[in-house]
Amino acid sequence: MNRKALIKEYPDYNKYVDNIFEAGQTHVFKWWNDISPPEKKRLLEQIASINFQFVRKLFNDSFKKTTQTTKGSLVPPQIITIPKNTSEKDVAQKARQIGEDALRKGEIAVLTVAGGHGTRLGADGPKGTLPIAPISSKSIFQLHAEKIRATQQKYQTCIPWYIMTSETNDLVTQTFFQTNQFFGLDPRQVCFFTQGMLPAVDFQGNLLMDSKSNIVMSPNGHGGTIIALKEKGILEDMERRGIKIIFYHQVDNVLIKIVDPVFIGYHLRDRAEMSLKVVKKCRPEEKVGVVVCINGSLHIVEYSELSRDEMYARNENGTLKYNAGSIAVHIISIDFLEKVHQKGEGLPYHAAVKKVSCLDGNGNIINPEKNNAIKFESFIFDVLKYVKKGVVMEVLREDEFSPVKNMEGENSPATARQDLINLFGRWLRSAGISIPTDSQGNVVGLIEISPCFALEEEELKSKIDKHLQFNGNLHL
Ligand code: UTP
Repeated sequence: MNRKALIKEYPDYNKYVDNIFEAGQTHVFKWWNDISPPEKKRLLEQIASINFQFVRKLFNDSFKKTTQTTKGSLVPPQIITIPKNTSEKDVAQKARQIGEDALRKGEIAVLTVAGGHGTRLGADGPKGTLPIAPISSKSIFQLHAEKIRATQQKYQTCIPWYIMTSETNDLVTQTFFQTNQFFGLDPRQVCFFTQGMLPAVDFQGNLLMDSKSNIVMSPNGHGGTIIALKEKGILEDMERRGIKIIFYHQVDNVLIKIVDPVFIGYHLRDRAEMSLKVVKKCRPEEKVGVVVCINGSLHIVEYSELSRDEMYARNENGTLKYNAGSIAVHIISIDFLEKVHQKGEGLPYHAAVKKVSCLDGNGNIINPEKNNAIKFESFIFDVLKYVKKGVVMEVLREDEFSPVKNMEGENSPATARQDLINLFGRWLRSAGISIPTDSQGNVVGLIEISPCFALEEEELKSKIDKHLQFNGNLHL
């Protein structure tokens, strides 16, 4: 493609055309003569949105080995463990009261990150739209919405819900909410905003195209939330609504206890800036980030960054030493986020090697069987480096963590459905109802309890007919 001819045709894009020529990425014009004028315009718009120097830097940095500067100084964090006796239960109860007061005052907003592409799942449409409830097949979004609705009703409050999407799934996500009348929520309390995007590159650092006029762009990771909250005016909107803290979670965890008052209570009681929920790792090699303390501050160390010794280290009683697996459920104070923004530093980017569908040299789309591309993502938990005070609260995995990541096997829609059924089964059993299980402890049969019927075990106990006979299928 001739630089001068291009600039002559589109003089407004002069600067951006120069940028792409200087970056040596002109192969994106390979099919210029095959595409229509609107497609040309779109491609130039895309080029204008890319900071090529920054992408080059990210690519060069991706070859540098992550050095764990922290070696030797890792210690397990202080954790609020699951209450075992009456006095610990009293402490949790006090925390609950603090959290419930904050909910009644309308100081809490929910932030759901739903901008990811869900490539491992490979489903059509955003993950939140996936039908998941065991009997009604309600979507993940609907389950979250009903939890918010039920909590609002319980505490006579309003809980604004912010949903982060990305350019690729924003329209379909918003349309899904509109078509479903916002699942009974007031549309004014639901706010969508998009995160930033970065190009994916091949192993030589070249941009990839997935059509003759489209550069492959990827959302910039859940850490993109921090920038987007500020840039899209969301923090301001929250402050205008009197919000003090954000309850952050990922869209794909179907067991999420949205705005858990106990967790909120501990965060407020300890004047924390950011708090984290953790579960015990199910095995040393489990691929979850581990919450640790380094030089007195909290960090999440990726499983890949733990040395072998650290991964298998044990306490005297035989339990794993670094055992606090993060489930990506956080509370973040608004004041803290404002302070982070004042510092003006960004979060670091991590390079992820992935399979990305793209055009080959002949303009044919290929769906690679092996990893062929690098995506750049920032992680929300890297903001922990600014946290002076944080609470780490342990919860039971089977009660609060079941993410949908893959189409089959571990962390799939099937395991998520079974985990929901098993949770409801435990609630019913504790209410005195007999529920059969198989040799693996899974409930035999189908159970679904709507958040609008009961949000938690105690609520179910107070509502359920104790003489109920489970016949293998129960929908409340
Ligand atoms: P994952 O890292 O599991 O990514 O995101 P994903 O997109 O869901 O799935 P894969 O890795 O492509 O298979 C965990 C959570 O963070 C959100 C996702 O939507 C999910 O809720 N996320 C991830 C974003 O909001 N933006 C991103 O850029 C990445």
